[in-house]
Amino acid sequence: MPVAELSGVTKRYGEVTALAGISLAIEPGELVALLGPNGAGKTTAVRILLGLAAPTTGHAAVFGRHPASRHARLRRGALLQVAKVPETLRVREHIELFSSYYQNPLPMEEVVAAAGLKGIEKRLFGDLSGGQKQRVLFALAICGNPGLLFLDEPTVGLDVESRRALWGRIRGFAARGGSVLLTTHYLDEADALAHRVVVINHGRIVAEGTPREIKARTASGGLEDAFLAIVGQDEGTAEEVMQ
Ligand SMILES: Nc1ncnc2c1ncn2[C@@H]1O[C@H](COP(=O)(O)OP(=O)(O)OP(=O)(O)O)[C@@H](O)[C@H]1O
Ligand SMILES: [Mg+2]
Repeated sequence: MPVAELSGVTKRYGEVTALAGISLAIEPGELVALLGPNGAGKTTAVRILLGLAAPTTGHAAVFGRHPASRHARLRRGALLQVAKVPETLRVREHIELFSSYYQNPLPMEEVVAAAGLKGIEKRLFGDLSGGQKQRVLFALAICGNPGLLFLDEPTVGLDVESRRALWGRIRGFAARGGSVLLTTHYLDEADALAHRVVVINHGRIVAEGTPREIKARTASGGLEDAFLAIVGQDEGTAEEVMQ
């Protein structure tokens, strides 16, 4: 059974069609990267799988249940694109608070080490740098010892070293059997981490495969060229349809 599944999901906001019929399954232990231009529908897909938005049509399930069910919520963690947490709590307090929601949270020291927060546990969240805040949000995503992680552009604003360190932590999570749905605009990130890449555009899946398969679509063998070709081709098709 997949750990997370969208089947035939559409999502409309008034005139805007954010998702136009998407079917996607994440298998246990799989690290899937969801790629696509701005506005393609990536965050919408993640929000539906988190139970934060309901599909207009179609069906979503996480661990076989409704995404908003307690069963699903206690088994997944999330780092959202625009996440807000109180500035006036200390790093350690945030982790303690979040851990208290879960039945089998990870030990504090493990979370601190896994998120690279050693030495800054006592700082106020509001006093942290952007990259340090991002590490706290990662800590909150993993502290409940989830089987499935949703990471929506997790490395935005991180310096090269911190990005690579976070990649290592994401890999570590997957190596322990965790499943991950990652969205990113950094194609090297998808290439480095993902078992499978799913490209969406205008709310539809336009390509899917291992990074190697996707890269094999262009002569240069680069993921960025392949991505541009896939999305460009899709734009061409969309124009033909409209004419
Ligand atoms: N709550 C909402 N109300 C109205 N429109 C929305 C809402 N949420 C998303 N949309 C629209 O749905 C489309 C898909 O947005 P979404 O945030 O899923 O894109 P994305 O692929 O995550 O883009 P980005 O790479 O910029 O994060 C966009 O056109 C967006 O404006
Ligand atoms: Mg987004």
